[in-house]
Amino acid sequence: MQSQVLEIIYLIGSITFIIGLKMLSHPESARRGNLVAAFGMTIAILGTIFLYRDEYNQPFASFNIILIFIALVIGTVIGVLAAKRVKMTAMPQMVSLFNGMGGACAAIISVVEYQHHFAAGEYGYSGTVLAGLLIGSISFSGSMIAFGKLNGNVSDKTFPFQSVINLILLAGLVAAGIYLAIQPETNMPVLGMLAAACLVYGVLFVMPIGGADMPVVISLLNSFTGVAAACGGFIYDNQVMLTGGILVGSSGTLLTILMCKAMNRSLLNVIVGSFGGSASGGATAGTTQGTVKEISLTDAGVLLSYSKKVMIVPGYGLAVAQAQHTCHELENLLEEKGVEVKYAIHPVAGRMPGHMNVLLAEADVPYPKLLEMEDANSEFASTDAVIVIGANDVVNPAAKKNPQSPIYGMPILEVEEAQNVIVMKRSMNAGYAGIENELFYEPKTRMLFGDAKSTLQKLVTEVKAN
Ligand code: TAP
Repeated sequence: MQSQVLEIIYLIGSITFIIGLKMLSHPESARRGNLVAAFGMTIAILGTIFLYRDEYNQPFASFNIILIFIALVIGTVIGVLAAKRVKMTAMPQMVSLFNGMGGACAAIISVVEYQHHFAAGEYGYSGTVLAGLLIGSISFSGSMIAFGKLNGNVSDKTFPFQSVINLILLAGLVAAGIYLAIQPETNMPVLGMLAAACLVYGVLFVMPIGGADMPVVISLLNSFTGVAAACGGFIYDNQVMLTGGILVGSSGTLLTILMCKAMNRSLLNVIVGSFGGSASGGATAGTTQGTVKEISLTDAGVLLSYSKKVMIVPGYGLAVAQAQHTCHELENLLEEKGVEVKYAIHPVAGRMPGHMNVLLAEADVPYPKLLEMEDANSEFASTDAVIVIGANDVVNPAAKKNPQSPIYGMPILEVEEAQNVIVMKRSMNAGYAGIENELFYEPKTRMLFGDAKSTLQKLVTEVKAN
């Protein structure tokens, strides 16, 4: 009876994960989606603790239940405190840290189960155990390095022949895993060495990758953790663990692919190469011949106040300056004056997926005001003024015009189609791709130099005066 109830609980848990994930894909339903999936996870955990019966039909010993609850309480307190205290800009670090914990759990499960159920000839089973160990430990150490890099504790380190060495090491790990999986006896010393080598590989794999590429790597490691957890689901014949793992694995993989596509780079290029001004054809910032026109705050205030339609293009600089609230204030002021204001959101603006959406949601910008790239591009021609706030690569026309540019082929926001373009940034410095932006030299573009937050505050004062 208990096992049937547990099966039903697992089924409900699996369904809530799917519904929750679906709801996460829209900002309005995302919070509820998270709660729905958390509910499913809670009943799955409690169901397992109280209803699980082993092959001798025995429940968990009460001493074990006490230990499980102690661990649950400690984990919950740490999780709640971390989630409440984390700053929005430190979200990628936290995701990385938590993801690493998932990888470690999957690896530990494999170590424990390797000793418990190693039966000769069960190659599928032992293969799953070892796959969980390999993927889980790589995900753990890789995520810890990613955390350290994003937190500023670890710097990028390249070493000679790194790709070749990493490839040989990976091949060695897979071979050792297969060797252990087909052995009729357990071999704990070799398993320990394999786990240690996987941890080293995780470090070597992530160490050389450029800090700004970390969101892609974290998403990839996230999918690794999902696959490792799914291995746990196979080992325990546990549907909810399997469903959860597969969902994390597949959504992480999709996100990785989508991010690479939006940056017009292959995953291999992210892992072994890097963007940079040194790339041929990508003019380094400051090398373009031409004149840059500036606009005064007063003129910018007048232009915006007397426009019919204004489009705001936020980028990484908006996040750095934490100018989202001031930006929303400017939007409200302009709307009070009868100006139609919308935001054009590029899928890889900022440094993490949905970065701009999260920032603007924090400032209570209504979601319908945010236009996706394709919709925004169809509206620029009818826009009187575009304000580019701390964005650079996502509005760089070289992506369309210069086949030699490292960002050639990346879809961009075509702001040059608007009547006027105001660009807010501190200097002529390049963005993430390290390349010159000809938009800044176009006749209809005018620069408003300064930190985005203080410039926006001054602009708000000017608009109020009009
Ligand atoms: P970027 O091209 O990185 O440009 C940001 C600009 O903001 C810089 O040129 C900088 O110029 C300016 N800035 C920095 N701090 C500022 C401040 N306090 N006030 C005003 N301006 C400031 O940003 P983007 O257009 O958002 O493009 C994102 C880039 O990151 C793309 O190349 C994308 O491929 C890459 N990327 C994105 C992701 C995701 S998932 N979003 C992940 C990895 C990489 P100044 O120094 O002159 O001020």
